[in-house]
Amino acid sequence: MSNDNDNSTNTSTIWGARFKAGPSAVMEEINASIGFDKRLFAQDIRGSRAHAAMLVTQGILTEHDGKAILEGLNQIEGEIMAGTFAFSRALEDIHMNVENRLREKIGDAAGRLHTGRSRNDQVATDLKLWVRDGLDGLDGALMGLQEALIDRAEEHAATVMPGFTHLQAAQPVTLGHHLLAYTEMLGRDRSRVQDCRALMNECALGAAALAGTSFPIDRQATAQALGFDRPTQNSLDSVSDRDFALEYLSLLSILSVHLSRMAEEMVIWASQQFAFIRISDDFSSGSSIMPQKRNPDAAELVRGKAGRVFGALMGMLTVMKGLPLTYGKDMQEDKEPVFDASDTAELCVTAMTGMFKSATFNTDRMKADAGRGFTTATDLADWLVRVLGLPFRDAHHVTGAVVKLAEDKDCELEDLSLDEFQSINAGITDEIYGVLGVDNSVASRTSLGGTAPDNVRAQVAHARERFLT
Ligand code: ARG
Repeated sequence: MSNDNDNSTNTSTIWGARFKAGPSAVMEEINASIGFDKRLFAQDIRGSRAHAAMLVTQGILTEHDGKAILEGLNQIEGEIMAGTFAFSRALEDIHMNVENRLREKIGDAAGRLHTGRSRNDQVATDLKLWVRDGLDGLDGALMGLQEALIDRAEEHAATVMPGFTHLQAAQPVTLGHHLLAYTEMLGRDRSRVQDCRALMNECALGAAALAGTSFPIDRQATAQALGFDRPTQNSLDSVSDRDFALEYLSLLSILSVHLSRMAEEMVIWASQQFAFIRISDDFSSGSSIMPQKRNPDAAELVRGKAGRVFGALMGMLTVMKGLPLTYGKDMQEDKEPVFDASDTAELCVTAMTGMFKSATFNTDRMKADAGRGFTTATDLADWLVRVLGLPFRDAHHVTGAVVKLAEDKDCELEDLSLDEFQSINAGITDEIYGVLGVDNSVASRTSLGGTAPDNVRAQVAHARERFLT
């Protein structure tokens, strides 16, 4: 759709008489941002519409010129959307490409659009609008992922699986509980999205180049027209602030940590050694040499792409550090990391949603595994405390001896006879069989936030209320 190499525009004319020759090819290459900032076109035109309307209301622009500008902007938007707009690298960036095209369409009135405005406040505003759209889109995508997880959690409220610490089997848990843990992580990610949105939602437009303007502009009006809560309060800060992009990249990075942990569990669970999950064909791939293989590529890529998002954050932190006020061209480097991290995170969220929706859980295997490794030993210790009144430390000791006996006999705790239990502590009764076993174990974990199936069902309902309404 674009023609980035269109050198037809004579750049020596852009800057007026001071520049005799056009920039060298290298200068154009390093200076131009149109190759990527064309993605700001919709925001740029939105901003220009609001600015032009305000200039008319304030009597800075005639109704006639205002109308021509608005009509021209509509046409330009149509051309860009239709892919017929010829982007010019000689015109540097999206702002000048749009303005130049407007001049071609409506003549000199186009030049009046930039009254009381600079590309510095313009680009800050455009990028804010873009990030805001990104935040809103991300929130919806995260909600979709939460919904998929909550649905699967409901389905598997009573499915027992091993819970791990140190990736060693620790205590049985329910799969629904595990999936709701992800839902909580994503809920905090969504809160960060909302926090970022609220903090950044101030309009920079009207700060002009850096010092404000002598024209009687109405910054409240443009802020309101663009859906901002208010205008920014300091013109210097307005054109040099990129905190909002850093914060966006920060929250995308934390989200990517979460997604990568979920993805890693999918990879582990999909291994033959675990065999807890079958990732659907849609999200797996085969091997070109080993016909038996099913590789969890999509999950691996979600795990890997976190690196890319962190890279964007690191890159942008480094660009911004030590920059003197106000705008510096360094800041043109803000866009690519923002676009790339945004695309990457949204793709990962969508892929995870698809994977969780379509995965098959091997519940028999999970349950069998849940009991391996004496995972109900804590239940035995708790029973000794609760029923026999042993101090927990003593109960821990007795349980250790029971586990050793089962280990020596190569059996599970519940396979030991009552005589064998009583050989270690005479007070143990056959009531003990009611607490051993993975179903008993999870059913007893009814404390707030615990893993019991009844809890999970209640948590599913609560999660729907908190996250999906
Ligand atoms: N393309 C520039 C950017 O992305 C727009 C702002 C240019 N401002 C300037 N004073 N040269 O940052």
